[in-house]
Amino acid sequence: MPLLVAGTNGVIALKIAKITGSPICYSQIDRYPDGEKYFRFACDVRGEDVVIFNSMHPNPDEILFETILIAETAYQSGAESVSCVFPYFAYARSIEKVRGEATPIHSIVKMLRNAGIRRIYTVDFHLQENVFGVEHHDLSGMEKLAEYCLEEFSDSFTVIAPDEKAVYWAKRFARKTDSEVIALRKIRIDAENVIVDPVRLELEGDVVIVDDIISTGGTVCQAARIAKKAGCRRVFAACTHAILAGDAMMRILESGIEDVVATDTILSPVSHVSVAETIAAALNF
Ligand code: R5P
Repeated sequence: MPLLVAGTNGVIALKIAKITGSPICYSQIDRYPDGEKYFRFACDVRGEDVVIFNSMHPNPDEILFETILIAETAYQSGAESVSCVFPYFAYARSIEKVRGEATPIHSIVKMLRNAGIRRIYTVDFHLQENVFGVEHHDLSGMEKLAEYCLEEFSDSFTVIAPDEKAVYWAKRFARKTDSEVIALRKIRIDAENVIVDPVRLELEGDVVIVDDIISTGGTVCQAARIAKKAGCRRVFAACTHAILAGDAMMRILESGIEDVVATDTILSPVSHVSVAETIAAALNF
């Protein structure tokens, strides 16, 4: 049975330990007086298959460095293998490069590999492919989100993918709810601004907008306005990772969206669905 290690944003490890009864190794994460990071295992990891849990939000750079520190310390302390679960993996959206901009994901995957991490688990990873160069398992919260929407929001609805990338998740979600999927198109204006193409649609009944991430809420709000204009009754939103930057939640509710649900890959006020069981199953407990 692997030994679970929770980083600063790795509380999901505690949920998994509770579900499976697996051992959890507590650690001391602190700072030296000069601000440098301090890490120490509070258990013996010698010969263990260590699984580190850390979600890259709200402070992705710090979490990345911390995870590397934990992984290297595990190896130096004699761990048999080191795997990482990143329930939310940051920097996966900044791959569409505008001239002169950095694409940090390339540096990040090198750092993770160099730290000796041999297996990586993500949940609804935005890039939808293995860019890590090591064993990668991408899990999904879509089925559980779909079950929640059926139980709590509406017993029948149309699923809207607000852009081309979201079609993959929307289809996965809709298989569970037996819903029709409508795909909208997002147009990039510049590095920071996008608009959802205001296509002509005719809708009736309820709608759930499905995406992997809600950050500023801009995408989901634009999609909601289009759905409302098209005549639907009520609009809901579901996503795996609720970043909810700034006043996103306020903007979402003001746009006419009745309710939002997300998973606990990021702990937010709408994280009503847990992916702990999905991760536990993938780790072969
Ligand atoms: C982008 O392709 C993602 O799938 C989401 O649509 C996007 O990250 C949402 O961001 P925001 O909430 O800021 O519009």
